[in-house]
Amino acid sequence: MKVPLLDLKAEYHELRDQILPALDRVCENSAFVLGEEVELFEHEFANYCDVKHCVALSSGTAALHLGLLALGVQPGDEVITCPNTFLATAEAITYCGARPVFVDIDPSTANLDPVRIARAVTPRTRAIIPIHLYGRPADMDAIRSIAENLKLLVLEDAAQAHGARYRGRRVGGLGQAAAFSFYPSKNLGAYGEGGALTTNDDSIAKYARAARSHGQTARYEHEFVGYNYRMQGFQGAVLRIKLRYLDHWTARRQEIAREYRRVFASAKLGVPNDSPQDESVYHQFVVFVNNRNSVMSQLAARGIESAIHYPRPLHLQPAYSSLAYPPCSFPLSERACDHVLSLPIYPGMTPDQVAHVANSVVEVVGTK
Ligand SMILES: Cc1ncc(COP(=O)(O)O)c(C=O)c1O
Repeated sequence: MKVPLLDLKAEYHELRDQILPALDRVCENSAFVLGEEVELFEHEFANYCDVKHCVALSSGTAALHLGLLALGVQPGDEVITCPNTFLATAEAITYCGARPVFVDIDPSTANLDPVRIARAVTPRTRAIIPIHLYGRPADMDAIRSIAENLKLLVLEDAAQAHGARYRGRRVGGLGQAAAFSFYPSKNLGAYGEGGALTTNDDSIAKYARAARSHGQTARYEHEFVGYNYRMQGFQGAVLRIKLRYLDHWTARRQEIAREYRRVFASAKLGVPNDSPQDESVYHQFVVFVNNRNSVMSQLAARGIESAIHYPRPLHLQPAYSSLAYPPCSFPLSERACDHVLSLPIYPGMTPDQVAHVANSVVEVVGTK
């Protein structure tokens, strides 16, 4: 039996009869950049996240960048985040001329550990970017209370967490602003690049709307030097259709995760904790294993694809060698990166595929 990490082709076949007419509508209206489909998506996604504003952008990286600029991050500032994430989280900080300052993870969740934030704060610190990694909300109450005490701003990196709930509230409105990615493999994925900034703050939304379109506040009225970070019309059309399925797809991801957890209860591996008060949307289902290369090749021999998110923490990436963090600076992130393994999880997985993955993993890693 073959089990890919993700099956976007099957998803397309399910939606084809809705997608093609929607793309045709975009062509008929020649609304290739922003336009009606994108505007409607902005309203629908803002409602979905229970926030006042959604500004549709060209990528999640653009959303992080504009989010930081909207918070007033400037050259010379420091922004705290964690090194167990995708490079884009830190890149956005660098784009602002600011310096990423890393703090380690809580190993039980693989998310930024709020207890470690205060020690990393300096007079230059301006903001914190918690990442809802793998779709699991970061500990936002603790992070927000530190931020409020120290007068810092919070930008959520919600690139992997569409629809996740923290203490009953959807991510996207838990800080001053939040960045979402609609990269095709995300839980809500476009048919190309896409992203959004969500916020309850009118001035942040106003800034982002102008900044995504060369600083324009009206046609050819450029108030400041901005960017070309606009969402394409096709992506708005696709995302509107897929958003209607998102809760149903998330429920299926959560069901698969419950089944994996049940079967893995006796297996020789680690699984991140889910807080009973929160709701992870399982963008990835990760486990922590020994001898990862061997586990991956034994799974591959059983037809099962697996992946590593992420193999190297950001402070040890060549791109950030200039920050001069030596190895062992963030031992918990480093350990997570050495052992983490992502297993297939997507809404279209059949019960047989789920059972095949779960049983194969136990067979390969052994029982406790
Ligand atoms: C945690 C995280 N942050 C930011 C991004 C950047 O999003 P995009 O690829 O849409 O620019 C991604 C997606 O790859 C991500 O996983």
